[in-house]
Amino acid sequence: MQLSEQNTYTIQNIDPVQLIEEYGSPLYVYDGGTIRRKVQELQNAFSGINMKIKFACKSNTNLAILRLMREIGVELDVVSTGELEMGKLAGYDTKQITFTPSGVPFHEVKTAVEAEAIVNVDSIPLLEWFGQTYGNTKPCLIRLKPNVAAGGNIKIMTAHADSKFGISVLLLDQILEVVKKYDIKVIGLHQHTGSDIKDAEPFLQVADIVFEAALQFPDLEIIDLGGGFKVSYKPNDPITDMELLGNKISERFKNFCAKYGRELQLWFEPGKFLVSECGYLLVNTTVVKEDPARTFVHIDSGLNHLIRPMMYGSYHHILNVSNPSGEEKDYTIVGYICETDTFATDRPLPEVRQGDVLAFLNAGAYGFTMSSNYNARFRPAEVLVDNGAAKLVRRRETLEDLLRTQVGFTE
Ligand code: LLP
Repeated sequence: MQLSEQNTYTIQNIDPVQLIEEYGSPLYVYDGGTIRRKVQELQNAFSGINMKIKFACKSNTNLAILRLMREIGVELDVVSTGELEMGKLAGYDTKQITFTPSGVPFHEVKTAVEAEAIVNVDSIPLLEWFGQTYGNTKPCLIRLKPNVAAGGNIKIMTAHADSKFGISVLLLDQILEVVKKYDIKVIGLHQHTGSDIKDAEPFLQVADIVFEAALQFPDLEIIDLGGGFKVSYKPNDPITDMELLGNKISERFKNFCAKYGRELQLWFEPGKFLVSECGYLLVNTTVVKEDPARTFVHIDSGLNHLIRPMMYGSYHHILNVSNPSGEEKDYTIVGYICETDTFATDRPLPEVRQGDVLAFLNAGAYGFTMSSNYNARFRPAEVLVDNGAAKLVRRRETLEDLLRTQVGFTE
């Protein structure tokens, strides 16, 4: 969102208050220009090697976003057969889709393999089943757990020793035994360390662990180092230095390829890096409550629409787009759900009045996809702003949407 010379906020020259007037509140808005810029940034950082981006679409599955990603050459990482279907609907060739499940029923893996998506095998039992079922007729990747702890908070760390994800690298001998037993066609090794990782160090550490393990597999084509690059949530928040990381990883990757004796592809599967900053959750303030303890601002949204602050204690920057020049005061921003859904405590904001439009930043990743119908509330509409024009890409839910799956009350 830009602040214009007239001190008003715009998204590609469009006034967010007008978007709320046209499409209603609350509203998720995505800026396609930001997505294009982030993709370019990632490509530039790794321009010296054969790098491929697989968008972790758990962060945002709106089909318009997936289509945009496809059009700009970004492939897909999915975690369920539902996401696989989304990818197909967005026009992806299933060969461009990686399926990275976590302990799912094997029939889901079968569906993905039969659709010709490439599967990331995440447990020894699944590897056994894969070998028994497909022998060497279908390719797969193996998801390793490198036992490295990194990420913004413990809930979003996925590669430490206590994490459920992947097969511990300490079990490499067992992995190799099963691969040999069924002559499994392992074409890649994968790992994902976690989310919100700022420093280059953990990325380099896991890369070295995966490169070392990779020397045991003779037919690799791919090394997939997952996602997790840290974006800026607060003003002046330190972020992953992509240029530095790109240089360091590329150098090590080239050395590894030389040692391995073949040019491989390096894959990344970011979610937040590509879509966090493109998204805004626009809401209306419903009540400004002057309480002896603090000033509460209620909004027409809650943890049902953006759960990250309540689930992880995440900071989301908030703008008062209706009154950017107002006098600053401290406000505690709370939702309308019958739970303690506090978005921010004593946050300085330009004077907030009943009916003002507030914008939550960084709402493009894990915003709508983690939303729910708690308290029988409808999910918001979504709008994509691209090439200077706003387009509705998901309508607001209605009572019919909530009732559709309940039996006996509607025909
Ligand atoms: N690859 C795999 C296998 C993953 O599990 C994830 C995220 C990603 C890639 C993408 O990570 P990213 O680049 O977005 O950090 N809901 C949490 C984040 C959970 C991420 C789960 N896995 C949040 O809102 O902070």
